[in-house]
Amino acid sequence: MRHARRAAIGALLGSALLLGASLTAHADDTKITLGFSQVGAESAWRTANTVSVKSAAKDAGINLKFSDAQQKQENQIKAIRSYIAQKVDVIAFSPVVESGWEPVLIEAKNANIPVILTDRNIDVKDTSLYVTMIGSDFLEEGRRGGKWLEDHYKNDAGPINIAELQGTVGSAPANDRRAGLLEVIKNDPKFKVIASQSGDFTLAGGKQVMEAFIKTYGKQINVVYAHNDDMALGAIQAMEEAGIKPGKDVTVISFDATKGGFEAMVAGKINVDVECSPLLGPQLMTAVKEVVAGKSLPKRIVTEETIFPMSVAAQVLPQRKY
Ligand code: AHR
Repeated sequence: MRHARRAAIGALLGSALLLGASLTAHADDTKITLGFSQVGAESAWRTANTVSVKSAAKDAGINLKFSDAQQKQENQIKAIRSYIAQKVDVIAFSPVVESGWEPVLIEAKNANIPVILTDRNIDVKDTSLYVTMIGSDFLEEGRRGGKWLEDHYKNDAGPINIAELQGTVGSAPANDRRAGLLEVIKNDPKFKVIASQSGDFTLAGGKQVMEAFIKTYGKQINVVYAHNDDMALGAIQAMEEAGIKPGKDVTVISFDATKGGFEAMVAGKINVDVECSPLLGPQLMTAVKEVVAGKSLPKRIVTEETIFPMSVAAQVLPQRKY
């Protein structure tokens, strides 16, 4: 009797479990699947961007397939091809460099999978290969850094020698932050970019390049224009090891405005930080849902950003989210 009752309960539980499982499977089938190819984990900015994308996908109920390309375009192309093979609903990626995307994007288009660019832009003739681009205006960021520089030295006859720590070669932020600076200073001969080299957006890269700059140019360097905070922090280490006071002997201009950048401003070692927000996840998930719903999106969604001089750093730091 006891056996019979147990068997009946077991059967009931079994069918309840089966029903639950099939309901879950059905719920998952209706979920949007997004394939996201991230650049890598080269900077504090990138880490914050990854956290933003992952948590926004969770909040939005989107099934996220995530891959880290370790700063290599071939890895991003492989990831995109695998998302096409898996028939995801939408592909999004933050392109490590600007060029070389046509073939794989044509494959996505032929498979009817919409592509959203996030953070970095690409250079393609046929812009129908992607739906929209969500991210910062890096050229404007470069102009902001350049204008701050002009203003900072407005009463100085010069010459003002700039050492530039570039981001990843061929990437949109490296190209545009440089172009923005050059555009602003081009008519003022007192400003001169005397050295320019890539530190690949990493702290170690920034330190190594700055060490080489110091060896070659020593005290001739008046300004370090670092394309991100990680490289600026590396350059600060190199300067301090060489007995140079960053923020005083050498003016330091940086980009991103991460907590690390702010802490360096509070310590008087970065003079100004141009904001670049990595918190793109929620906007991306909204765009993904809209694309799947058949809505049309603006071709460019620009992130709102500002610039923080060292004088406001201590007051603003507690509110920084990344
Ligand atoms: O594309 C955004 C840039 O990439 C950020 O400025 C930098 O920190 C990151 O690695």
